[in-house]
Amino acid sequence: MTSYKKLGFVNTKEMFKKAMAGKYAVPAYNFNNMEQLQAIITACLETQSPVMLQVSSGARKYADQTLLKYMGKGAIEMMKVHAKEKGLKEIPIALHLDHGDTFELCKDCVDSGFSSVMIDGSHHSFEKNIELTKQIVEYAHQHDVTVEGELGVLAGIEDDVVAEKSTYTKPEEVFEFVEKTNVDSLAISIGTSHGANKFTPAQCTQNEDGIFIPPPLKFEILEEIEKKIPGFAIVLHGSSSVPIEAVKIINDNGGALKDSVGIPEEEIRNAAQSAVCKVNIDSDGRLWMTGAIRKIFNDKPAEFDPRKYLGPARDALIEMYKHKNKNVLGSAGQA
Ligand code: G3H
Ligand code: 13P
Ligand code: ZN
Repeated sequence: MTSYKKLGFVNTKEMFKKAMAGKYAVPAYNFNNMEQLQAIITACLETQSPVMLQVSSGARKYADQTLLKYMGKGAIEMMKVHAKEKGLKEIPIALHLDHGDTFELCKDCVDSGFSSVMIDGSHHSFEKNIELTKQIVEYAHQHDVTVEGELGVLAGIEDDVVAEKSTYTKPEEVFEFVEKTNVDSLAISIGTSHGANKFTPAQCTQNEDGIFIPPPLKFEILEEIEKKIPGFAIVLHGSSSVPIEAVKIINDNGGALKDSVGIPEEEIRNAAQSAVCKVNIDSDGRLWMTGAIRKIFNDKPAEFDPRKYLGPARDALIEMYKHKNKNVLGSAGQA
């Protein structure tokens, strides 16, 4: 058993309390490799933002779960050294399991140093979701680890997160779910989804430049949910904006992304000022990273030193995370 406290992480209790009071959202950024992790820590330290480092099941398989844990620990140590060097305050960092799907996986993460876990029981019946979430909460809380549950299904396809159709969260279910499970935060479905194709062209309108404009998020559902569980921390998954600039860099350099549509940043900004205390962003980082690497490969076909293309990709990520913290989530200066 490794306690997250020994590794230097914090759970989400204090983070969400502050985010709720300050009307901003804590960024939850996924990482699978060193460059992504360096970029997240650098950007969050330099903008003085709290952060949740998210590890998915896919990341555990890709990067090795033991290595990821120690990379997380290394990130804490790096943050402390850089904070001292730059005369900055140390920032709170949580290590979070993204989309846990079984008790065993969540327990394994609690036992190996995660400070927060998500149990995504949204594909189960309401009753089964309550039962599974409650079981994990009971175990996690014994170790002071916080738990995120989910009600409502997000559409979208990534490695281990697959759903064809979304189902919005039913406001009438949230009070019972929260009360019966004793969960610490709740991910909801109000129209966001995973990946870079969040809406089909048929669901969108087009502006005069041919850009797809997606239908608005269901803020009325969020408001209903807030009324049912006032002051409770809400989480928004699938919150990438899929910037046209990043898609253009990819496609101008040999890529073939088609019909990519995300959630306008303005909508995420509005959500962050509500009871939404945590916002998950992964795809935007993938896009900027891919664009930077494709551009180097296109501009300098003789380049073969990974540092020469992963370095610029890391720089692009740093810029993006800083932008999100400062201009979208409002978490900059809140560490
Ligand atoms: O919500 C899913 C995250 O973006 C992680 O995706 O399962 O492909 O690592 P992944
Ligand atoms: P995006 O695919 O919109 O970045 O969502 C990421 C996410 O929800 C991770 O859990
Ligand atoms: Zn997600």
